Amino acid sequence: MLLMSIGLYVFYTEIRPTVIFGLREDYAQAIPYQQVPVGLKSLKAEDCGDCHQEIYEEWKTSIHAHAYTDPFFQAYWKKDGNVWVCLNCHTPLENQQPTLIQDVPRGRVEKAFEIPNYRYDQAYQQEGVTCAACHVRDGVILGPYDDSAAPHPTRYDPSFRTTQICYRCHNVVSGPMQFYNVGPCGTYAESEGEFFIKERGFTCQTCHMPEVKRPMANGSPIRYGRRHLWRGGHDPDMIQKAVAVQVQSDPPTPGPGDDVTLTLTLINAGAGHKIPTGDPDRFFSVDFLVKDATGKVVQQQTDTMGRWIMWHPVIWEVYDNRLLPLASRDYTFGYELPRTEKGWSVVARIRYHILTDDQHQMLIDRYGLKSEDPYVFTIYEQEFPLDATLAAALDQPDNHPELGCAVPKRSEGVHLPTGMS
Ligand code: HEC
Ligand code: HEC
Ligand code: HEC
Ligand code: HEC
Ligand code: HEC
Repeated sequence: MLLMSIGLYVFYTEIRPTVIFGLREDYAQAIPYQQVPVGLKSLKAEDCGDCHQEIYEEWKTSIHAHAYTDPFFQAYWKKDGNVWVCLNCHTPLENQQPTLIQDVPRGRVEKAFEIPNYRYDQAYQQEGVTCAACHVRDGVILGPYDDSAAPHPTRYDPSFRTTQICYRCHNVVSGPMQFYNVGPCGTYAESEGEFFIKERGFTCQTCHMPEVKRPMANGSPIRYGRRHLWRGGHDPDMIQKAVAVQVQSDPPTPGPGDDVTLTLTLINAGAGHKIPTGDPDRFFSVDFLVKDATGKVVQQQTDTMGRWIMWHPVIWEVYDNRLLPLASRDYTFGYELPRTEKGWSVVARIRYHILTDDQHQMLIDRYGLKSEDPYVFTIYEQEFPLDATLAAALDQPDNHPELGCAVPKRSEGVHLPTGMS
């Protein structure tokens, strides 16, 4: 009995995971305090925007700019007791953090020894993943060029043109008693390269920071640069770029009383990593809804694609049925049509979920999430007649959307630093 109590005590205080990832040296600490580079008035994104106006306007619309104010982050952060370690990616600069971490005994983040940070700038914290998180180190602005003429010190850093720049925050490791293959926001590890990254030489930026030709600062020369947009799971247009869909029917021209089988093929045609990726709450659902002549739904089938992780008492990935780049999956649905009635149809629909309805409700009820924050997006929806005209409907271009992403073309004559073509 005593041994068991001691065992339980040790398990709960020393072994049981309190956050869903382990610590890796780089994100275990904030990015050290940064001074304002000579020639600039502050590190604030808005002030960079005095000269880099378009980039600033783009960044402002991105989730990076909202990585702290994001209502989903705020709700989950509250659920996790506002533990400091989250801030190392969501507000990564020491300048943005209210406390300094002196020590993390035995790697237990909840036991960290914290002291107040007197240089903490609350307004700056609101900027989330701000310009300086990627661009400022040791009072110098790092960037992708080796020939810029700026009113502030600059240094060429080749990692801006590789996936290395995204690695720090888009890859987490597992901790003790955490059994999963790829960490919960581990897009980096999931991209394992395969097609887009290895064969086509894509980086994360190819798809998430589309290339653009423009002056990078007001009045400076025109160059090839990249838009600071980082669209992802909160943008239905971006999700649409990831998937291609095809629907087929057997028989193709069903009549009354027939057994119809529909097959929907979902292809990861445009993401350089698994879909869905990142946050383990994300999933896709595929629905078939049979409607009678009055439009009433008489039968429905729903399948889901994502990963299912058990969070307590240890973290264990039960399964992962997400799609790798260029992989596809068939979803089939069978229905026996009535002999006498006419005018029936079937709706095929694909939706993307930021999180489940239950999780969403839990965050509203207990952690202050507002119900108006959208969390389900319809990515594909088509209604097909269940009669002799079905074959023609299946042949419509809408049923064969152009293959996925915007797989961007490589531009010609790009102004790249030596050795980076
Ligand atoms: C007073 C105007 C001004 C301000 C303010 C300013 N920049 Fe610049 N910046 C420039 C100019 C001009 C260039 C060079 C343009 C060129 O050579 O094409 C430049 C270049 C850069 C580059 C490219 C560096 C390279 O060599 O690859 C980056 C990155 C950059 N700035 C980031 C920032 C950030 C981040 C801030 C805010 C902390 C900022 N800038 C504030 C004017 C400014
Ligand atoms: C300093 C940490 C950090 C770095 C570096 C970073 N990110 Fe992020 N990124 C985040 C965080 C945190 C979020 C999630 C914010 C949220 O949803 O609250 C995020 C979200 C995203 C999203 C999801 C957008 C959405 O709508 O769901 C994309 C796409 C993305 N990042 C791409 C990139 C790419 C590409 C790079 C490299 C050029 C990069 N990030 C570098 C921290 C970072
Ligand atoms: C998540 C990391 C990240 C953040 C945050 C970020 N940038 Fe960048 N920035 C990059 C990357 C990556 C490139 C390289 C794009 C390329 O290959 O040309 C870049 C390029 C630039 C350039 C060079 C011109 C160009 O388009 O390539 C400027 C100027 C710049 N950023 C300014 C800013 C400013 C200003 C902010 C804030 C408003 C900001 N960046 C926020 C990652 C970031
Ligand atoms: C071939 C294009 C392509 C490449 C390369 C690519 N992505 Fe994506 N990414 C997408 C598309 C399309 C989506 C939208 C589908 C989705 O959210 O599942 C997406 C979604 C995301 C999301 C959103 C996940 C969420 O939970 O909302 C993140 C984060 C992300 N990518 C990060 C990265 C990182 C980091 C890399 C580099 C290792 C990368 N991507 C490489 C196309 C790409
Ligand atoms: C290693 C960097 C890192 C750490 C540490 C981190 N995050 Fe994140 N977080 C990310 C990235 C990157 C994303 C975007 C990936 C995606 O959307 O799939 C993200 C996305 C999220 C999202 C989804 C936001 C949305 O809009 O749906 C939530 C919620 C979140 N993080 C909460 C937390 C909490 C709570 C902690 C601390 C327990 C934490 N994060 C620690 C990098 C990190």
